[in-house]
This record gives sequence, C-alpha cells and structure tokens, in this order.
Amino acid sequence: KTLDDLTDIAGKRVLVRVDLNVPVSNGKVTDATRIERVAPTIKELSEKGAKVILLAHFGRPKGEPVADMSLSQIVPAVEEVLDQAVAFAEDCIGSAAADAIARMNNGDILLLENTRFHKGEEKNTPDFTAELAKNGDLYVNDAFSAAHRAHASTEGLAHHLPAYAGRTMQAELEALEKGLGNPARPVVAIVGGAKVSTKIDLLMNLVKRVDALVIGGGMANTFIAAQGIDVGKSLCEHDLAATAKQIMIEAESAGCAIVLPEDGVVAREFKANAAHETVAISAIPADAMVLDVGEKSVAAVNEWISKASTLVWNGPLGAFEIAPFDTATVAAAKHAAERTKAGKLTSVAGGGDTVSALNHAGVADDFSYVSTAGGAFLEWMEGKELPGVAVLTQA
Ligand code: 3PG
Repeated sequence: KTLDDLTDIAGKRVLVRVDLNVPVSNGKVTDATRIERVAPTIKELSEKGAKVILLAHFGRPKGEPVADMSLSQIVPAVEEVLDQAVAFAEDCIGSAAADAIARMNNGDILLLENTRFHKGEEKNTPDFTAELAKNGDLYVNDAFSAAHRAHASTEGLAHHLPAYAGRTMQAELEALEKGLGNPARPVVAIVGGAKVSTKIDLLMNLVKRVDALVIGGGMANTFIAAQGIDVGKSLCEHDLAATAKQIMIEAESAGCAIVLPEDGVVAREFKANAAHETVAISAIPADAMVLDVGEKSVAAVNEWISKASTLVWNGPLGAFEIAPFDTATVAAAKHAAERTKAGKLTSVAGGGDTVSALNHAGVADDFSYVSTAGGAFLEWMEGKELPGVAVLTQA
C-alpha cells in the first residue's frame, strides 16, 4: 500500500519513519540529499491535513541518550528543505512526545528525538514498539536505507498500525525491481571498491543474476592475483584467492561473463597527481600499485555498458577521490549517463562511495535511479529480503 491509499487522513496522526542519518559537521548538515528524498512524502501528508510525526535514528548511540546524536540539530535543515516549520519533541515516547503531539494542528510537522536513545528500538521489543505506536493512527515507512534493520521503528510498528510505503520507498522499490528483480536483459553489474571481503555474498548473488559482472577497484587485484599474476604493492586480499576463484567458477556455470581489467594505471605513492603510467595487468612493477583501471579496460567496460539494457552499479573502478585516478570511474559513469539519457539503458546505482563517485562525475541526476542507501542497498544486491520491506509487503 502507498500514499495513494491514504485519502481521508485530515487530523490523523501519521508516524512517518524517515532516514535523517545525514552527514553533520560542527552541528551543520553537510549533505541534505536524504532529507530532500523524504520531503515529497512529508509534504503530501501535510497537504492532506495529517499530523505528520517523524521518527528517525541518528548515529549509533547504543540505547541511551548521547548529546551530539540528538536529532534537534537536524531540525533547521529539515525546515529549510521543506520550507515549513518543524516542531521537535525531546523524546520519541512518553509525555514529551504525547504533549508535543497534543499541541499539533492538522498539517503540522513534528520530529521526535532519536529512536535509538532507547534500547527497545534496536531490540524491537513489543513494549517499546507499543509505546511508539500510541503516538499514531497510521504508519508510513519512507526509509528504504534503514529497511535492512528489523528495528521497532523500521519493522515493529507495521505490526501495530496500518502500514504504508512512502513515496521514496515506493520509488526505490520500483527502481530496484527494474535493476535486478525483473530487469530488461542484458543486465550488466559493475562492482568496485576496495575489498572483496565485504562483498562476497553480493558477488555470489550477482553472478547468478546478471549477464556480465565488471569487477574494478582494489577488489579486482584479488581476482587478478588469484590467477597467479603479481600485483606488486597493490591493495590485495591474498587470503581470498580461493573465494575469488570460486566466484569465477560460479559465474562460468551460471553463464555470467566476468570482466576484469586488462590494464591498470600504476603509481608508487597513494596521492593526488602522483607520477603514474599505464601498464598491462600482467606487467605491474613490483614496487607499484594499481590505482585505476587503464584505457583498454575502460573501453571494454563501456562496450558492455553499450550492450546492456540494464546496469546496476556499486563501487568505483579506481581511487576516484584522488586525480587522475578518477578517470575510469568518470568515463564509465558518463557513458552510462549518456545511454540512460538516450533511453537505451536503465541505470541503478547505490552505496555510499558510488553516490559520491557519480556526483563527482556530475552525472548522478542522469542515472535512472541513485539510491542513498548504503548497507540496505548492499543487502539488496546480496539478494536478501529486507525486514522493513518484507513487513510492508505483507501488510
Ligand atoms: C545508513 O546510514 O545507512 C542508515 O541510516 C542505517 O544506519 P545504520 O547502519 O546505523 O543502521
């Protein structure tokens, strides 16, 4: 069920789970993307006359109040994005919440304090969930990026109140369905980033579901080393050689092409504008490290992107934070963006670094969908059922 099913809600207290776990520096929000994503749901409910009560977590306070993890510091940024006043209650349950809710008029917006200030949130205890549920008549979950947590505010509440997906949750699920659920083929996945160890389940799942898997970033070195090639001083998890081989065997039996770099841009230091050269992957100097994939590899990646109808992307191809080792990531991102704009590709990307990389390439808005989810996006790519989504589907 979505907000389309919520018509007659004037005066109703709607508990809306949002993700306000945004980057903050010196008490100021430095990236309001997540707030912008949930704004349509909040506005729509407010315009329909509901009393909009926002529930969210911030940081990992371990079940007790921590001053610098108070959501009060996020209020000005939420007000700015919504262009509307947002009241704040110093607790998400008890009299502080009840009194603030009693003062609300139809269409008002109230943010309750960090749900993780109570142990019952992460433990998803029936008592705490019931306390939260007292504050609302209806429950809307618009926090896909927290849906991998089976917490009281992300999962438990759906058992206590009529539950609905917010607009961002709805858009996210529709995009993910197009990405891996029921995608137009061929489907190509690009997976990069530093380590294989954090993405074993994800790679194992992808080889069964996509037609080609491009492996880039530091993790590619582990696959290259597993084939007996010397990767010099490159980042490499030598102890995962057997895992890498197993992933390649699984890919072969599933008919998934594994695309590894043919060449690499190597340097002797990990710093911006370090002296660098492009070498064949079989000729990495012993004292050098690969910091980006080379031109031939980018051409191969772009050829796969050209063949694809669907692209799923997680993780950069190189050390994109330091120039010029962002070259491959930017080139592939731009190519994918152009194909998407031309209506030839559905492109879905997610995971923290991926969003920064696409922003860096200036193409995040040109992708079909860029998820702001980190862990939840990875678990989705692993093929796991997310508790916060499952409970909405059941409802
Ligand atoms: C995130 O930032 O990815 C989500 O808000 C979930 O946060 P968590 O990893 O602390 O549960």
